[in-house]
Amino acid sequence: LNTEKTVDERLLNICELLEAHIAYYNWVGFYFRNGDKEELHLGPYVGEPTDHTVIPFGKGICGQVAVSNENFVVPDVAAQDNYIACSITVKAEIVIPIFVNGENIGQIDIDSNTPDPFTEADERFLEFVCAKVATILS
Ligand code: SME
Repeated sequence: LNTEKTVDERLLNICELLEAHIAYYNWVGFYFRNGDKEELHLGPYVGEPTDHTVIPFGKGICGQVAVSNENFVVPDVAAQDNYIACSITVKAEIVIPIFVNGENIGQIDIDSNTPDPFTEADERFLEFVCAKVATILS
């Protein structure tokens, strides 16, 4: 009997832990680059289902991070021009890229129903989470 978890199960567990333990993390999910195509595909997530399972590079907060390779903290989603709304309850968003061998292969995306909740502590913490995720993926 193989009781080892799959990669997707482990990623889902991470989403579940984050959403359950941090009150202002209300939607937590992963997007991954689809091979050589310039698009992101939704991976494991916790929260309301989203229509945006495929996001072209450059589009929305997630698509911008796919291109910039940098953290993107959005204190107020209503103030963003290039933003893809998934739910009207969302007030803020944070997206942190995941690097494997120096390559941006995807990201963790967190939506909050609380306005302006994310601090540098969230960035450092989520960078740590993404580094762990990179070891799961490589
Ligand atoms: N808001 C994101 C889209 C993904 S949903 O938040 C799940 C964006 O603008 O890229």
